[in-house]
Amino acid sequence: MARTVFACSACAHESAKWHGRCPGCGEWNTLVEERQAPARGGAPRRAAKAGRPVALAEVEAPALARLGTGIGELDRVLGGGVVPGSLVLIGGSPGIGKSTLTAAALGNLAAAGRSVLYVSGEESPAQVKLRAERLGPAALRVPILAETDLEAVLATIEAERPDVCVIDSVQTLYAGGLSGAPGSVGQVREVAGALMRVAKERGTAVLLVGHVTKEGALAGPRVLEHLVDCVLQFEGERERTYRTLRALKNRFGSTNEAGVFEMRDSGLVEVEDASARFVAEATLAPGSVVLAAMEGSRPLLVEVQTLVAPTELVPPRRIANGVDRNRLALILAVLARHAGLSLSSSDVFVSLAGGVRVDEPGADLAIALALASAARGATLAAERPLAAFGEIGLTGELRHVAHPDRRVAEARKFGLSPLAPGDGLGTLKEALTAALPAALQAA
Ligand SMILES: Nc1ncnc2c1ncn2[C@@H]1O[C@H](COP(=O)(O)OP(=O)(O)OP(=O)(O)O)[C@@H](O)[C@H]1O
Ligand SMILES: [Mg+2]
Repeated sequence: MARTVFACSACAHESAKWHGRCPGCGEWNTLVEERQAPARGGAPRRAAKAGRPVALAEVEAPALARLGTGIGELDRVLGGGVVPGSLVLIGGSPGIGKSTLTAAALGNLAAAGRSVLYVSGEESPAQVKLRAERLGPAALRVPILAETDLEAVLATIEAERPDVCVIDSVQTLYAGGLSGAPGSVGQVREVAGALMRVAKERGTAVLLVGHVTKEGALAGPRVLEHLVDCVLQFEGERERTYRTLRALKNRFGSTNEAGVFEMRDSGLVEVEDASARFVAEATLAPGSVVLAAMEGSRPLLVEVQTLVAPTELVPPRRIANGVDRNRLALILAVLARHAGLSLSSSDVFVSLAGGVRVDEPGADLAIALALASAARGATLAAERPLAAFGEIGLTGELRHVAHPDRRVAEARKFGLSPLAPGDGLGTLKEALTAALPAALQAA
């Protein structure tokens, strides 16, 4: 049996047994089990042959032949399809649809004549079959291996030489020789490292499914994120219909892309025109404003809904769904200080329709308008519904955000009038006066 040691991931101190606190540097919870490198036995250091550096211009780099998964949104996030020999980590909370997405992708690849393999460490073949039946005949063509032993999985990949292989999930595989339980930091690192070697040697693209912790970080070591070529994050709330797939890291493409999906009976369905859906669903009642956001390089119109209700609570509630809480606090402060709208004795709820999440400052103006509209009980004054975007600065000024032209074009496409910084709108106060004249008079 291979010997293992516990090494500190902060100071590299090695210890024969596990300690909660590293005896070397005193950090807590940093010891990770590792396979001990075979001792060199004190042999004299052999003279290594010097490598020959090559000019980059002379390096042969064939154009990447990408494998299309038949799922347009997934291909786009990957940068145009799966790259042979690459390692892709797909993270997401339980039940979000990681298995569904990867099973459908393998089904499409199999239907296109590619050899594929689905390794399930979590579900029995019967369970996987039930899901595949939902997804359709293509998914039923995918060969499955229900296995948790890393060695057996590696041997199968060597024997079958699939073009694309899915490991569902990386936390369930078990590397012999390490005493840690599957899913522990040492195990996950070992498993991912071994799979990476096979992926690169055999040209097999490996999609690793990974669980995320309660805080939303990928479970397992950060080192996993460094190791793989792409990290995709599948997010959204289970109860909501829409889910987004984002690239957090991509060695073969942009990380600006995002794909939108909807979970249906027949599996995850791509939502190609998410804006159309969200605009059609927008209520446009007081407290509702359409935000012209950017999802990567794509504009997305999404409804911001707010509710402002009187409260006795001190401090009052500030609930934000789909937007950053700190951003909301900033907007409330600027509204109070620079626009004469104090909500200090009200509970404030902000939510983006459809479970969408927007992390850009361009959402500020839409949120501020929605809050003012909710507080005054007035709808926004315009013949056509407004689509707002723009960042709010600490002094109450409006700031430009990226891709205004694309946002404006998207708003016009759906018959909305854009409302953005510029054109005489320099401050939040001016924007409120333009959009909510009646309400401000009442103030
Ligand atoms: N018949 C159905 N119609 C609509 N949605 C369904 C149906 N059956 C399952 N689902 C949805 O599929 C989800 C499960 O998807 P999937 O198993 O792909 O998730 P996962 O991310 O792999 O989960 P886990 O972390 O448990 O492996 C369920 O949460 C459920 O919402
Ligand atoms: Mg699963």
